[in-house]
Amino acid sequence: MRAAILTSGGDAPGMNACIRAVVRGCLAKEIDIFGIRQGYEGMYTDNIYRMDVSSVADIIHRGGTILRTARSDRFMHEEGRTEAAAFLEGYGIDALVVIGGNGSLTGAHELSQLSNVRIFGVPATIDNDLAYTDYSIGFDTAVNTVVNAIGNIRDTSSSLGRTTVIEVMGRHCGDIALHAGLAGGAETVIVPEAPYDIDVICQNIRTGVERGKLHSIILKAEGIGLSTQALAEILQLKTGCETKTVILGYIQRGGSPTARDRVLASRLGFRVSQLINENAPSCCVGVRGENIVEVPFEEAMQMKKEPPLEFLRICETLL
Ligand code: F6P
Repeated sequence: MRAAILTSGGDAPGMNACIRAVVRGCLAKEIDIFGIRQGYEGMYTDNIYRMDVSSVADIIHRGGTILRTARSDRFMHEEGRTEAAAFLEGYGIDALVVIGGNGSLTGAHELSQLSNVRIFGVPATIDNDLAYTDYSIGFDTAVNTVVNAIGNIRDTSSSLGRTTVIEVMGRHCGDIALHAGLAGGAETVIVPEAPYDIDVICQNIRTGVERGKLHSIILKAEGIGLSTQALAEILQLKTGCETKTVILGYIQRGGSPTARDRVLASRLGFRVSQLINENAPSCCVGVRGENIVEVPFEEAMQMKKEPPLEFLRICETLL
């Protein structure tokens, strides 16, 4: 049996741990495994190589992806996906493992409809915006990176008595902000999925100052429709508190994966190698509670993400 593996879209810490688990899990079952570099794009440039045990040595702790990644425009079109299917069939590939986020797994689903190659989707995105799984690979590391940043920013904000608006990633999903806000003790968390009231935020800042609070941390997800700079200017104008901004940006996507991400990546990757070996049909793997689950693409891609908005109320009460 022959399998191939690629990583696609934005990289996420833990992708390497997952590649390692898929490759070594397959080799243990005597399945030939090929790496495709640069995501779906590698199928158009013949960027494929045979992997062995040593190909994945010393990578479990590394951020990024040894297979590199890309956002492929060509794969977005049906013609491009048909070419990709022909490429896989040309190499005699029986199963393809796609490690990536929402867009990448949507593409994997579309490819599975055009091809007899079995496709297995593994959720890896710091955004945690895939509804069918509780967590995606990379999310925990990103949240920890943000929590550490909040700690550093709080030190300097307190020293100077400032309000700081911190912007975190997540595209249209507020999960990073909600988890990091709760763990980092942010006074206010603003996410795309819930309305917010600038006057209430200003009132909270004023109340904090009155009771001797030295800083205010406002954690804002990137997709709320108001720029971080504009929000800071409004807050400064309305409260009279000096207000600074920090956009954490790509720092959230890099770094060594946490133990939690490595465990998740290894479990998901190992499960996929079993599914390949068992001749299981195409599906996405994920985690619900403590259990690894398999969900048909059709169902997984239709599910609507429900962020833990109750975290907002907890933050508001504990501020
Ligand atoms: O990987 C997810 C993500 O980081 C989003 O949060 C963000 O909007 C996007 O990717 C930006 O990535 P890029 O600039 O690489 O397209």
